[in-house]
Amino acid sequence: MQIIQDPLEMQQIALAVRAAGKRIGVVPTMGFLHAGHLSLVRLARERTDVVILTLFVNPTQFGPKEDLAKYPRDFERDAAQCRVAGVDLLFAPEAGAMYAPDASVYVTEEKLSRGLCGASRPGHFRGVCTVVAKLFNLCLPHVAVFGAKDAQQLRVLRRMTRDLNFPIEIVAGPIIREPDGLAMSSRNVYLSADERQQALVLQSALGEAERLFRAGERAAAPLKTAMEHLIAQAPAAKIDYIEIVDDDSLEPVATLEKPALIALAVFVGKTRLIDNVVLR
Ligand code: PAJ
Repeated sequence: MQIIQDPLEMQQIALAVRAAGKRIGVVPTMGFLHAGHLSLVRLARERTDVVILTLFVNPTQFGPKEDLAKYPRDFERDAAQCRVAGVDLLFAPEAGAMYAPDASVYVTEEKLSRGLCGASRPGHFRGVCTVVAKLFNLCLPHVAVFGAKDAQQLRVLRRMTRDLNFPIEIVAGPIIREPDGLAMSSRNVYLSADERQQALVLQSALGEAERLFRAGERAAAPLKTAMEHLIAQAPAAKIDYIEIVDDDSLEPVATLEKPALIALAVFVGKTRLIDNVVLR
């Protein structure tokens, strides 16, 4: 496995790989890798000849009061996991190399990114779209793999890829969970033992909504109320949002007729966790 830091070197290598007729798969990450990230590497492996994992804690997607400075990092462990997973190229640029000090061009998605996490994290998806567009231009992938865990991000990036005509196939990987159901996240390390236990309410709330849906409930309001009640039982949990939206438009729905996305963000202590389920 080759480790590359310089963005232009990354692009030169990608051009050479393409010239040799090989297909490139990219898995963008912010590192502190877990089994969720590695599942995406496998999906890229199955579809392409050369797999690039990008590791970059992207400053432009963090708000001023968010956890950029303390975002968990362990480069050596990440690199070792990449080697085992069969990553060919680990692209890990420095922030200074990715953004010119006077950078002034950004990519903004103006519909799907308004609600949900976009409402509580202003500027977040502008940062995500901008960095992913840059990573696309540096890695020149045929396939890019993203996780369903970040449901809104996946839909925003599909829209960006379509609307800016990137010749890239976007592949989605399912949410990978801990044995007890908590969705894997690099941020789970922030949780104390007690918070880690209470964090299970995210999954129980979604499970309860799904159960009611399967039992025939089609109105959004009672599903939401049931989830709120469940989460209220965990004293460390504070709801940021629970939304039931159309899976295509991400507009809130009152009744679940077409496929609907239930997405939630909950603070457990100081840690903001997200999870979701699609009901169809
Ligand atoms: P990060 O949070 O590191 O996630 C990288 C990728 O892993 C994303 O596509 C995310 O959806 C996926 N992922 C995270 N946890 C997962 C889980 N439990 N199961 C399945 N997939 C999971 O998302 C980002 O980084 C950044 O916003 C990025 C796209 C890299 C842009 O900076």
